[in-house]
Amino acid sequence: MNAKIAVFSGDGIGPEVVKEGTEVLSLVASLHGFGVEFEEGLVGGASIDASGKPLTDPVLKLAKQSDAVLLGAMGGPKWDGLDYSIRPERALLALRSELGLFANLRPVRLFSALASASTLKRKVVEGTDLLVVRELIGGIYFGQPKGVTRLPDGTERGVNTEVYTTPEIERIARVAFEAARKRRGYVTSVDKANVLEVTELWRRVVTRVHREGGYADIRLDHMLVDNCAMQLLRDPKQFDVIVTTNMFGDILSDEAAMLTGSIGMLPSASIGGKVGMYEPVHGSAPDITGRDMANPLATILTIALMLRHSLDRSEAADRIERAVEAVLDEGYRTTDIQESGRRVVGCREMGSLVREKIQSLH
Ligand code: IPM
Ligand code: MG
Repeated sequence: MNAKIAVFSGDGIGPEVVKEGTEVLSLVASLHGFGVEFEEGLVGGASIDASGKPLTDPVLKLAKQSDAVLLGAMGGPKWDGLDYSIRPERALLALRSELGLFANLRPVRLFSALASASTLKRKVVEGTDLLVVRELIGGIYFGQPKGVTRLPDGTERGVNTEVYTTPEIERIARVAFEAARKRRGYVTSVDKANVLEVTELWRRVVTRVHREGGYADIRLDHMLVDNCAMQLLRDPKQFDVIVTTNMFGDILSDEAAMLTGSIGMLPSASIGGKVGMYEPVHGSAPDITGRDMANPLATILTIALMLRHSLDRSEAADRIERAVEAVLDEGYRTTDIQESGRRVVGCREMGSLVREKIQSLH
């Protein structure tokens, strides 16, 4: 039976990078003897233009009935002025929450060929290989009360609320410990327990899951988020698995992306429900849209995560990652990771270089 992939390219460079991703997936499927079929849906700004809503019921249904969702990027200046309730980003948040994707995995691995593409010194970033496990459907992104109200004196009051319950913390902690076990690594739980009660609870529950959940063999440290932001730049190699809240994970993963040379390199997997969703961490990059300048490697590496976490094809995933590494080793670069002496190629060409390499690897 064919694996059914819902493809939501979204806005900006989304369609360009997604095309390279689906072509890589088709190729490895044929090489590894399994079938894939793609069904496309409009999300984000593209959906707003077509129907006035960032996510429609048929598209959500398509996602729920697929084996995995591949997502490009959403948003752009065109829709920036819209009300919060119908902004493109709403589609992303609704998909995450409707699909029950409480765990977002963002592996931050520096390909050694890119050690000098980072804005940080080679000796700091070389060897970076960490995983951010971000809680994805709780915390301040979804907590009530929220919104902006007008006060009697004519001023306004804006509120968002950080909420976590014990079960929400337990399940994300387990994902982090399981990931650390697989990597033969350790966990750093990141919070702001010195100030925020909700993350004092976070720290207590993570500690309990560690002790009572059968994970006592795995090292667990706790770190305050401000310190973590600093430590990521000072000495990223001290980290293996970082588990943290929705908002801290959002911020720290963008920061960590820069360790790899470019946010254009970072894949992500959102899991925990029946259907996983896979997206590059970068945004829609309106400034380079349609110019064949986007870096498709984050999306291609995202396909590898999909193969591993949803399609049970880890050998195909390994093959993609090795191909990306080989293409970088040969000196090919997109603009975002460009360095002198390297050959700069466009999005299309980078995609086809990776596909050629996949074919020649065994
Ligand atoms: C991310 C993005 C999203 C988030 C936005 C686009 C809603 O920044 O996936 O990291 O904040 O989760
Ligand atoms: Mg983000």
